[in-house]
Amino acid sequence: MSNRTFTMIKPDATSKGHTGAILDQIIKAGFSIKAMKWTSLTNEKAGEFYAVHKERPFYGELVTFMSSGPIVAAILEKENAVADFRKLIGATNPAQAEEGTIRKNFAASVGENAVHGSDSDENAAIEGNFFFSNLERF
Ligand code: RTP
Ligand code: MG
Repeated sequence: MSNRTFTMIKPDATSKGHTGAILDQIIKAGFSIKAMKWTSLTNEKAGEFYAVHKERPFYGELVTFMSSGPIVAAILEKENAVADFRKLIGATNPAQAEEGTIRKNFAASVGENAVHGSDSDENAAIEGNFFFSNLERF
């Protein structure tokens, strides 16, 4: 079990001014930030990041949305980080997310759902490496 996960604050949340509140909720839940950047994804880079969903009907929409504005990418550390962070963000569809979760608090729809969280230790490492060099993490 790894103690790191990877997150993005998605373009819907950055454009609505939720970045600070979401980071506050993440930190108050016990995660520490090991790497962080305010950046954006090109269409091509977003397609690469979500390549696992290439065959899904929502892939084109997802890639367009994820490259539509700024994002915050971060590596987070906490015991049991991947599972605990998925719990903190809540269900993919905010209508089904538990009270108090980040998606319940800040997401508008299944497509524009405020945050990304890695779904496994293996993907957390791959996704962290997608955004950060060794000099950019602590
Ligand atoms: P994420 O990877 O962004 O943390 O989200 P997730 O694990 O909760 O959900 P996943 O199945 O990996 O889907 C990735 C993102 O694709 C969009 N999506 N749209 N329209 C739809 O039915 C649909 N289903 C998924 C969401 O933005 C989801 O976060
Ligand atoms: Mg996912």
